[in-house]
Amino acid sequence: MSLRLGDKAPNFKAQTTEGEIDFYEFLGDSWGVLFSHPADYTPVCTTELGRTAQLQEEFKKRNVKVLAVSVDPLDKHKGWVNDINETQSCHVDFPIIADEDRHVADLYDMIHPNASATATVRSLFVIGPDKTIKLTITYPASTGRNFHEVLRVIDSLQLTSNHSVSTPADWQHGEDVIIAPSIPTEEAKKRFPKGVREVKPYLRYTPQPNQ
Ligand code: BEZ
Repeated sequence: MSLRLGDKAPNFKAQTTEGEIDFYEFLGDSWGVLFSHPADYTPVCTTELGRTAQLQEEFKKRNVKVLAVSVDPLDKHKGWVNDINETQSCHVDFPIIADEDRHVADLYDMIHPNASATATVRSLFVIGPDKTIKLTITYPASTGRNFHEVLRVIDSLQLTSNHSVSTPADWQHGEDVIIAPSIPTEEAKKRFPKGVREVKPYLRYTPQPNQ
């Protein structure tokens, strides 16, 4: 059974490049990104883990802990990390799970048998501090993910979890946001003192509140 938005993220224990972890303990009160890749020593995966490492400061700024997973063994992960660091000019300092028995892959439905019987696809889960699933994305092995987009969605998730707003198409941090339709315009004017721009009664913008 696949996991859906709002579901509790299953906990697990796993061997990783940073030692054994309990997922919930690892996350603590932070947000989390759990993402799978098909295999070590493959080109697209090398660039994906490299980009994630290059963006570690951005994830940390947002209080997000990152955890990668594939079904390859620990010694392979450790050798490959050297290659990632060398070729992508980065320092991988987040754990990579060695999920040889597919425990995590099965829990999170990361193996899609009609794509590959054995390898994990490119699944990604964003998990909130309440341990529920806030975002899922799935890419095929042939397409590397856009980790700037992952950060963009996290910005939206963190903003909209604290304010009665949504973010429009292609929104970037700092741009105007949409006021929830449930708030009458007169009340919105009080709740959003930076201003309310009404395009239609159901489409009202305000400057990003948490800036
Ligand atoms: C890659 O990371 O390049 C890759 C991995 C598995 C299948 C296809 C591409």
